Amino acid sequence: MAETKRNATLTVDGKSYDLPIHSPTLGPDVLDIRKLYAEADVFTFDPGFTSTAACESAITYIDGDKGELLHRGYSIEELAEQSHYLEVCYLLLYGELPTAAQMADFETRVTRHTMVHEQMHYFFRGFRRDAHPMATMVGVVGAMAAFYHDSTDINDPWQREVAAIRMIAKLPTIAAMAFKYSVGQPFVYPKNTLDYAGNFLHMCFAIPAEDYVVDPVLSKAMDRIMMLHADHEQNASTSTVRLAGSSGANPFACIAAGIACLWGPAHGGANQACLEMLKEIGTVDRIPEFVAKAKDKDSGFRLMGFGHRVYKNFDPRATVMKESADEVLALLGVENNPLLQVAKELERIALSDEYFISKKLYPNVDFYSGIILEAMGFPTSMFTPIFAISRTVGWISQWKEMIGDKGQKIGRPRQLYIGETHRKYVDVGQR
Ligand code: CMC
Repeated sequence: MAETKRNATLTVDGKSYDLPIHSPTLGPDVLDIRKLYAEADVFTFDPGFTSTAACESAITYIDGDKGELLHRGYSIEELAEQSHYLEVCYLLLYGELPTAAQMADFETRVTRHTMVHEQMHYFFRGFRRDAHPMATMVGVVGAMAAFYHDSTDINDPWQREVAAIRMIAKLPTIAAMAFKYSVGQPFVYPKNTLDYAGNFLHMCFAIPAEDYVVDPVLSKAMDRIMMLHADHEQNASTSTVRLAGSSGANPFACIAAGIACLWGPAHGGANQACLEMLKEIGTVDRIPEFVAKAKDKDSGFRLMGFGHRVYKNFDPRATVMKESADEVLALLGVENNPLLQVAKELERIALSDEYFISKKLYPNVDFYSGIILEAMGFPTSMFTPIFAISRTVGWISQWKEMIGDKGQKIGRPRQLYIGETHRKYVDVGQR
């Protein structure tokens, strides 16, 4: 539990209540209101949890004003430059960077679990061919509980560990299968001589009729995209996973819930929505029209890939992603990609526009990731599944932390009721 050094006093109807103030290792102090309802008979009101800490966590820290993101104390810039996705997975899951021997053991454990139960192939075939891969993933990941009974007991630490490894290992396989199914190509089995990101590219782009060699620059770029999405503290999908897990639901069900939440365009679905928006804008001369629309509240239109609940300076992940976009497009010889031109000009115009400056709306991680993924050959429908693969480790790390927290309770928010008061039932003939 965080340190408690002082109290705040709240007065309700002339009566005072002491509220402990906890000091985190980093970030603003936190008022503890857990006993408020029992003692003062009032709730607090905070839709969207803009001022509410729902748990203690030692995994990820964000300073939105500074544009800082730390995993277990290490900055995302340093990790993106020097680490790799599976090492970041280890760090998130176990709290420390691994030794060489620990890393080798972890890689072996993940690699040994990359295949899915053969029966799952038939399960896939039940979906319509044109299903969105996210729809397929929500279903298939939830169904893992039906295929892997031996890792659903959340009270057994060994089973929790196996479930975690299974999901980190199998999500790329499941996402690649969803992709192959949607384009009518045969599933490609994982190839364990490849690294994590390279294996995913192989499962997506190899076909039986031809050899496929993974380009190391592309697999490095994919690895980096995965690293940049690995965890982001208590965002909507992570909170969904924690809320689902708080009832004791099995880990596969919890991660399926996280994938469902991620799908929305305000969250992980923004990468697909952003690229579709860039395509709709099409040419640089149309940007002012779209910027004007984004500023008009009645239009209901937002610039996708802009803004963030927490970052009010810049999204550090977007900075790294922008560099990767330049690298990948140069490698593929498409630096003059018209979408990139539109993206760069849109960024320039939005960042010098009073509306965006005053509301602190900066490009977020999803602004550039779609450009890289499209250049790699992914259809827009695969962008959010790739986010889901990458975030799985964050969800699982947060879920494991929650299960290990002795103070954990079932999540159960209260409400400010604004409905009818007591009414008498009226028979249907008299209404
Ligand atoms: N374009 C135009 N105006 C915007 C935008 C935008 N993208 N984002 C926020 N605003 C305005 C909004 O209209 C509001 O104006 P006002 O104060 O006059 O009512 C103000 O900025 C604050 O917006 P909010 O909706 O109250 O802020 P929020 O913290 O609830 O929402 C957000 C954050 C990310 C959902 C939002 O900025 C947004 O919808 N962005 C576009 C979608 C997007 O790119 N999402 C990806 C987020 S990063 C990856 C991830 O988390 O998955």
